[in-house]
Amino acid sequence: MFFRNRFLFLLAVAALLAVLSLSLQFLHLIPINPVKEDGLNSKNRKRIMPNPLTEPPAIDPIYEAKFYCNIPSIPERSMEGHAPHYFKLISVHVLIRHGDRYPLYAIPKTKRPDIDCTLVPGRKPSHPQLEAFINHMSKGAEAQMDGTLSIMPRYPSHSQCEMGELTQTGIVQHLQNGQLLRNIYIKKHNLIPSDWTTKHLYLETTGKSRTLQSGLALLYSFLPEFDWKKINFRNQWSTIFCSGNCDCPIRNHYLEEEQRRQYSLRVKNIHLEKTYTDMARIVGIPTRQLRASNPIDSMLCHFCHNVSFPCTKNGCIDIEHFKVIKTHQLEDEKERQLKKYYYFYALLATHPLLNQTVSRMQRIADGKKEELFALYSAHDVTLSPVLSALGITEARFPRFAARLLFELWTDGKKNKEHYIRILYNGVDVTFQTSFCRDYNKHYGKLMCPLEKFVHFVKKDMFSPFNSTNYYDACRRRPY
Ligand SMILES: *[C@@H]1O[C@H](CO)[C@@H](O)[C@H](O)[C@H]1NC(C)=O
Ligand SMILES: *[C@@H]1O[C@H](CO)[C@@H](O)[C@H](O)[C@H]1NC(C)=O
Ligand SMILES: *[C@@H]1O[C@H](CO)[C@@H](O)[C@H](O)[C@H]1NC(C)=O
Repeated sequence: MFFRNRFLFLLAVAALLAVLSLSLQFLHLIPINPVKEDGLNSKNRKRIMPNPLTEPPAIDPIYEAKFYCNIPSIPERSMEGHAPHYFKLISVHVLIRHGDRYPLYAIPKTKRPDIDCTLVPGRKPSHPQLEAFINHMSKGAEAQMDGTLSIMPRYPSHSQCEMGELTQTGIVQHLQNGQLLRNIYIKKHNLIPSDWTTKHLYLETTGKSRTLQSGLALLYSFLPEFDWKKINFRNQWSTIFCSGNCDCPIRNHYLEEEQRRQYSLRVKNIHLEKTYTDMARIVGIPTRQLRASNPIDSMLCHFCHNVSFPCTKNGCIDIEHFKVIKTHQLEDEKERQLKKYYYFYALLATHPLLNQTVSRMQRIADGKKEELFALYSAHDVTLSPVLSALGITEARFPRFAARLLFELWTDGKKNKEHYIRILYNGVDVTFQTSFCRDYNKHYGKLMCPLEKFVHFVKKDMFSPFNSTNYYDACRRRPY
């Protein structure tokens, strides 16, 4: 009986997560202050010096969609690894979203976008290491990989992409990420010894080919020509990486509340409903079916790959449809921040993962020289709640190949003191977190003490539930 209930419960959790994944797929967090969020790339220079004629309005769906696509171009500047010279970097934890992928859903009765998922170094976008990456991936029989990971393809290979398959763009995005991290963490900070072994790395991925392949691409340019025998990828069945601590009824309660909020916002938006009706007329299916096919997922793929939207004998889906749905997603993100359901969900959803991160940091701070570089290859539904739980409300929704990093430093002048930095897509967000915001204000310090993060994860993150621990917070009925 107990096991049966437990099994049904896990099924329900899985179903809820699937729904969340579907409904949150492409929502973007609106930066309250876009200058802070990514004042480093050229597009945002415009925002630092506002030009009244060209400054985009509050919500610019096309600008946001381009940012989301994250098409590889010139290497961006980043703030990773910045510290005074007497600080020593001792550990880095990386959480990535997989790179650009083929849609997960098709719009019924329309032609799917014609995209080639084979890797061709001569085709744009490309990367200097792409060819070597393909060669290296074809070897690797000795790698240790959990369960089904070992039989999964190590790189995308279909001339017509399969649903959800990583594209060449997705591989290139993570080759760029890995190269950037190599230049900073290995060449500049010697994070990993040159004779590194399996124990220096911690690698974990969900059981999707796009996350495994994204992780391998990042790892390849981070540690070129790595020895496959030293690679041990663990498989995580849960998209929130809750491993053995997934049982949390109150988390599901808040997820349901969040879904109700989303639904009522959607049905209030007459412009959006009219857009779905118009698209359904073009495609020739009931509006309900069109909406259920999550058309924005497909449309973003057309948009990111510069492939025109599908047409039928009744007309064409066009950029105006796209703008309306995209704008709604951005408005939905805004409302999500105001109502707290998602935040409460996020606190409970991400505790197991954050707990694992702080525990590892504490072990390393205590002198253990293992798992110095941890890589979690994951999804938007993994990164988004982590950002929310940490209180980084200015961050945008995770784009393709988004990266969230936790750096652990030790102060060379005061040996026992440890500090962290948190970076999102290369931007230092340490002092946007709820637990370090005030520390910065009062002390004007460069980094956040590790203890602040530890206290937050072990205790303070449960205070909104009038609770002091995970088990209790997961079961205490809100009133
Ligand atoms: C997108 O496609 C159009 C025509 O299909 C072409 O004119 C344009 O240059 C393309 N843009 C990019 C960025 O490739
Ligand atoms: C938190 O981490 C500690 C130390 O690794 C572990 O014993 C504990 O079970 C974890 N708790 C949760 C809820 O993940
Ligand atoms: C926590 O307690 C306060 C007052 O004691 C109450 O207003 C609030 O709703 C409680 N929060 C939850 C999540 O139960």
